[in-house]
Amino acid sequence: MNGTADTSIPTEFAFVPQAAAIAREAGTRLREYFLEGVETEYKGDVDLVTVADRTVEKLIRRRLGEVFPEHGIYGEEGTRERLDGEYRWYVDPLDGTTNFAHGFPQFCVSMGLEHRPKGIKPDKDGTLVAGVIYDPMRDELFTAERGRGTQVNGKPAKVSRIQNLAEALLATGFPSRKRHSSPNVHFYHEFTLRSHGVRRAGSAALDLAYVACGRLEGFWEFNLNPWDTAAGILLVEEAGGCVTDFAGAHYRLASDEILASNGLIQTELIGFFQDLFAGRNLAPIPTPEEFARARKEREQAVGSSQ
Ligand code: IPD
Ligand code: CA
Ligand code: CA
Repeated sequence: MNGTADTSIPTEFAFVPQAAAIAREAGTRLREYFLEGVETEYKGDVDLVTVADRTVEKLIRRRLGEVFPEHGIYGEEGTRERLDGEYRWYVDPLDGTTNFAHGFPQFCVSMGLEHRPKGIKPDKDGTLVAGVIYDPMRDELFTAERGRGTQVNGKPAKVSRIQNLAEALLATGFPSRKRHSSPNVHFYHEFTLRSHGVRRAGSAALDLAYVACGRLEGFWEFNLNPWDTAAGILLVEEAGGCVTDFAGAHYRLASDEILASNGLIQTELIGFFQDLFAGRNLAPIPTPEEFARARKEREQAVGSSQ
């Protein structure tokens, strides 16, 4: 990195220009490793890790230390620094390791910044104030700073305006650990048949970035970590969307559940989660003919209200 900030980002931002330059440098390194090909190791029984995850976390740690020497860092590959600081970066140097290891080009760098005012209890969330996600394969930089909106490559981004689940494209993910006990496949089954479909692309941070810029209407997952979600949550909120747990409560960084959407379909999604958890019978999944009839009825209702 040459120390200069990303020129596509307006300078009134307090954190994003420097963080974006770091994410770009880190992402460029990931891309080089990806094109060279790297050995894969097992971190746990089924969790993969590569030299790219570890080297790029060290690089981000060094760069953040140079630019924001007082900020704390909490990284997936073990960095725990200055956690009593007023600001804390949650860093995932490579979100989408399984994709990366298989040569599937969907992965990113994710860095989210939390403001933790003095005296805050260790188990309480502060406020997310900045988020940067960089996809080096598409050269897409997703950025947000609290109160200043979300941008993709420096241009304003907004969530989509789709108003119902039936016309939504969704995303989810499945944990590699404890995957045999995850109930998510049942949710996947229901939502995929009640919507335009559910993508499982393998990078939760990019899934959230895609909700923020309107490529997806919603995303949910169980058991993510703050390094997966911190940046993406702010991107979604600043783009006009909404992030809660499955019951609709305010999202917490340590939560086992995340449900993000354009806001317009959040209540409908929460209703399904509540019914599924309670074991209640859901309305039958519509047949294609019923789906088409319901769509025409919605179109007529919109037409008659104009
Ligand atoms: C994973 C990805 C994936 C999600 C997993 C995460 P990693 O992160 O975000 O989409 O389904 O739950 O662990 O391990 O590639 O950084
Ligand atoms: Ca991750
Ligand atoms: Ca990771």
